Amino acid sequence: MPAPTANTTTRRLTPVKCIALILLTIIVIVGITILIIWLSVKPRRPIYTIENASLHNYNMTKNDHLYGNFNFTLKAYNPNSRVSIYYDSIEVKLYYNSEQIAFNNAQPFFQPRRNVTYLDLYLSAKDVVLYGDVARNLKTERTTGAVDVEIKVRAKIKFKVGIWKLRHRKLKLSCSPRVPVSSTKSSQTCPCGVDL
Ligand SMILES: *[C@@H]1O[C@H](CO)[C@@H](O)[C@H](O)[C@H]1NC(C)=O
Ligand SMILES: *[C@@H]1O[C@H](CO)[C@@H](O)[C@H](O)[C@H]1NC(C)=O
Ligand SMILES: *[C@@H]1O[C@H](CO)[C@@H](O)[C@H](O)[C@H]1NC(C)=O
Ligand SMILES: *[C@@H]1O[C@H](CO)[C@@H](O)[C@H](O)[C@H]1NC(C)=O
Repeated sequence: MPAPTANTTTRRLTPVKCIALILLTIIVIVGITILIIWLSVKPRRPIYTIENASLHNYNMTKNDHLYGNFNFTLKAYNPNSRVSIYYDSIEVKLYYNSEQIAFNNAQPFFQPRRNVTYLDLYLSAKDVVLYGDVARNLKTERTTGAVDVEIKVRAKIKFKVGIWKLRHRKLKLSCSPRVPVSSTKSSQTCPCGVDL
């Protein structure tokens, strides 16, 4: 009798199938939940640009000692809608021709979600001895109306997701703005390379 045999087989498999189905459903639901949380929280890389580059009180003494106040605005954009950022320490160095000419710390700050924050960077070169070639390059480049400098920022940052603060990370920025030599400020925006 084929019919009862088929029935028995179906009946015997049902609990197993049922458990398998439940397990599979749980696995899929957990997987989708993890995926959704990960996708919604996954920090997007913040975006940094330099604006308003300017140089005031430039003076190069006869023996190649440089004076000058360099001002920049660092624009920090946090595009994340669920992640805010603590900037706990911010070091800023200014280079010309790979020679460091100024150093400063910026104020630590907290950046909320989806926020743009402008930081004023004041970098003052004071009695900086320039190497022969560097001094010559700077004098020559000044005659073109603007000089190319490099700003390097090292910051310790911490992401905050909901109530959780994640561990510290190192943020490194490298930006190469062009600074006008007259004390007008540059209208160009210069994107910064981000290493996070
Ligand atoms: C720098 O530029 C931004 C916009 O690009 C402007 O909002 C800000 O006021 C400027 N800062 C200074 C010190 O000029
Ligand atoms: C530049 O510095 C030298 C030496 O300190 C000073 O004698 C000179 O007056 C300064 N020039 C300007 C334009 O400030
Ligand atoms: C960004 O955050 C700072 C600090 O909390 C706040 O002062 C500023 O108004 C915010 N800017 C925007 C565009 O939300
Ligand atoms: C440039 O920075 C100096 C501080 O080094 C500040 O006194 C001055 O107001 C700034 N100038 C501009 C145009 O932002």
